[in-house]
Amino acid sequence: MARVATSYVCNECGAKSPAPLGRCPRCGTWGSVTEDETHAASPARAKSRPAQTTLLLGIDGDAPSRFSSGAGEVDRVLGGGFVDGSAVLLTGEPGIGKSTLLLQLAAFTAAAGADVLYVAGEESPLQVRLRADRLRVGEGLVLTRQTDAAAVAAYLVQRRPKLAIVDSIQTMTLGDDGVPGGLAQVRDSTAVLIAAAKESGTALVLIGHVTKQGTVAGPKVVEHMVDATLSLESAGDLRVLRSLKNRFGATGEVGVFEMTEGGLKDVPNPSAAFLAERPIGVPGSVVAAVMEGQRPLLLEVQALASKSPYAAPRRVVQGLDQRRVDVVLAVLERRLGLPLDGLDVYVNVAGGLRVTDPGADLAVAVAAYSAVTNRTVGESTALVGEVGLAGELRSVSQLGRRVQEAERAGFDQVVGPRSSERVRGVGTLTEALAVVWEGS
Ligand code: TYD
Ligand code: MG
Repeated sequence: MARVATSYVCNECGAKSPAPLGRCPRCGTWGSVTEDETHAASPARAKSRPAQTTLLLGIDGDAPSRFSSGAGEVDRVLGGGFVDGSAVLLTGEPGIGKSTLLLQLAAFTAAAGADVLYVAGEESPLQVRLRADRLRVGEGLVLTRQTDAAAVAAYLVQRRPKLAIVDSIQTMTLGDDGVPGGLAQVRDSTAVLIAAAKESGTALVLIGHVTKQGTVAGPKVVEHMVDATLSLESAGDLRVLRSLKNRFGATGEVGVFEMTEGGLKDVPNPSAAFLAERPIGVPGSVVAAVMEGQRPLLLEVQALASKSPYAAPRRVVQGLDQRRVDVVLAVLERRLGLPLDGLDVYVNVAGGLRVTDPGADLAVAVAAYSAVTNRTVGESTALVGEVGLAGELRSVSQLGRRVQEAERAGFDQVVGPRSSERVRGVGTLTEALAVVWEGS
């Protein structure tokens, strides 16, 4: 059996812990964790008691309290700000801006007079200081280079900071087994930090690296343990923060930022930003009214068709679900007789955003049709709707909010499924094309 580094144990349930916690993270008993004299695991000693139970409706208390992160776009993705005592994982590729964003947020809360701890495991304190200078922030922010998770946990329990940032979870260690960044170290460090944050009421944010090749083992394990997972991605010149998991809010929520000289800045009107470089009067370019999370967005969908040099023509898709695009192209070919044979078709979402909403189908269909037939779509028309296999247009969620966003952005006409008066309602893809090119 591996050597056990644990040196504290709960006398109620036998849970082991490397830090002297005031409350057992497993059974919730206060003051039951004491130093483990044996320093070794002995399952035979652990006498299990029957689990204690409570009537569900007998439980009361207040909903967890929240505080603003200082960035409107982050608050939106979190579901209304940081939750006291919760743990959030922020993932993203190296260089995307995780440290920058969290330093900004840490500094905001510190400047408001609350205690904030920044664990600088990746960079030297001087590097963090220089970044703070660049961002012109840092008043009152407390830093540590300590990467021993038990020591950081003990700090949380004793000092009860409002917010703690761990940059990054891969640098944390617990005990002296294994390498930093290894699965066991990452998992065990996370467990100890989360338990401490729950006890101290600290909002804990863990930074987790993800490689370009995909996720590394660490963050995946951590994802199961935290209350919320956010990922920071690039979308052209913009940065998109997305909630992949959120026990205190909705998933799929997006926040949009711009990386500037002074760090990440909220982009409160992303539709305008995503449409800023839209070419006017070019075949293959259309505007889709999509929902990403609870946010309506207008995005440019582009298609290009060219004669293929290959026996099997290519379908190159970016920012959309490849299978959905394949279905839409098949419907265009089979139901509307659009000749795609021998053509390579490229479809992408301009600006680099990843769209998961099926409501983008109609825009994909019209963009492809426009590209193949070389006809342009009116610049003030936005499109919305899911395309079914029979070529029918299906309804989408939150149509009203999409239309409102389109109107706000100055679009005269929204073509979509027949379920709102403010939409130019159509029942099929054929009808949609007729409306789009009406009178032309
Ligand atoms: P960083 O936060 O270090 O990324 P991560 O922690 O995700 O690895 O940010 C990296 C990039 O951000 C770096 O290339 C420099 C750039 N940057 C700015 O453009 N403006 C700024 O104000 C700062 C601090 C960084
Ligand atoms: Mg970093």
